[in-house]
Amino acid sequence: MSAHPHIETRVVEVDAAALDPAVIEDAAVLLRAGGLVAFPTETVYGLGANALDDAAVQRIFAAKERDPDDPLIVHIADADAVGTVARDVPPLARQLTDAFWPGGLTLVLPRAEGVAPAVSAGRDTVAVRMPSHPVALELIATAGVPVAAPSANRFMRTSATTAAHVLDDLGGRIDMVLDAGPATAGIESTVVAVEGEAVTLLRPGAVTVERLEEVLGRPVARRERESSGPSSPGMLERHYAPRARLVYGPDATVEELVTMAREAAASGARLGMLLAEGDAPGIEDEGIVVERPGPQGDLEQVARGLFAALRSLDAAGVEVIYARGFSREGAGLAIDDRLRRASAG
Ligand code: TXA
Ligand code: MG
Repeated sequence: MSAHPHIETRVVEVDAAALDPAVIEDAAVLLRAGGLVAFPTETVYGLGANALDDAAVQRIFAAKERDPDDPLIVHIADADAVGTVARDVPPLARQLTDAFWPGGLTLVLPRAEGVAPAVSAGRDTVAVRMPSHPVALELIATAGVPVAAPSANRFMRTSATTAAHVLDDLGGRIDMVLDAGPATAGIESTVVAVEGEAVTLLRPGAVTVERLEEVLGRPVARRERESSGPSSPGMLERHYAPRARLVYGPDATVEELVTMAREAAASGARLGMLLAEGDAPGIEDEGIVVERPGPQGDLEQVARGLFAALRSLDAAGVEVIYARGFSREGAGLAIDDRLRRASAG
């Protein structure tokens, strides 16, 4: 265990519909002074630091116990500020920012000089996003600096979609949490690399590939392996994982998964299942802990509740989780990606 000096983490509730300027100012002052402030975005909660301050950015890595080779996303409050973070913004990148910003799309572009080296973990590229959450936008604008922010969870864990998740993972390690209630998308941004005419998907997320392809008018390249093309270290095989062992059965039927869970429960293990609404009614009466983030037909709802469901199964103390698969269309591609990584290794 690494030694972490305990610091007081201030939790402040904010009403996104009626922002209190004094609260935002406090948080902005902390950021400018090199502090760490967790804040809501529409995708997941972020752990923010001044992206121009290398020492502040390094504190993010320490608090999260994040791999120092895994670069961070820089958040801006104004699409035009992309030019201060990225050295070059190809026309294709402009086309994407026009269509999807503010929102859940992150672009990997050539890095500008002023960005703290730690943000890019030694690469000459930088990931940048303009979120749509009013608290995030106001905080970044008030701080007057771009804000580096990974998801506000400990290394390898699922991203935080509520302030309570942030506190569970990072309480006592960061200066402040702005609590504006649960994140609406619940899944991280889509990350794409733009190199001239090439757009490559590095991480499926809140903006679907279908919508990207509609705007671009052609297919988006998928990154095959770590070794080919632009890579994203965060595409680590095991990631987004609950403490419990997760058995992901995208090709199994719900009946087959239930049978496996029953057999494992019969041998004394404490079992959890991640199902859709309406699956295996009554299975919870058999002592199996079940989370149902949404109906099969509403993948956005499933995505919104996915990480909270995994955290809640952990909180119930299950040893193994059997998770069903969902369609891989639309928001389903990101759900499948996260469940696959959560079950790896
Ligand atoms: O929705 C989100 O993206 C949230 C909110 C807070 O904005 N942030 C987030 O950050 O999920 P993080 O650090 O957990 O994930 C960032 C991903 C990682 O997979 C990382 O490897 C990739 O973006 N990334 C960042 N900079 C990169 C770069 N220069 N080149 C390639 N991949 C990069
Ligand atoms: Mg993350």
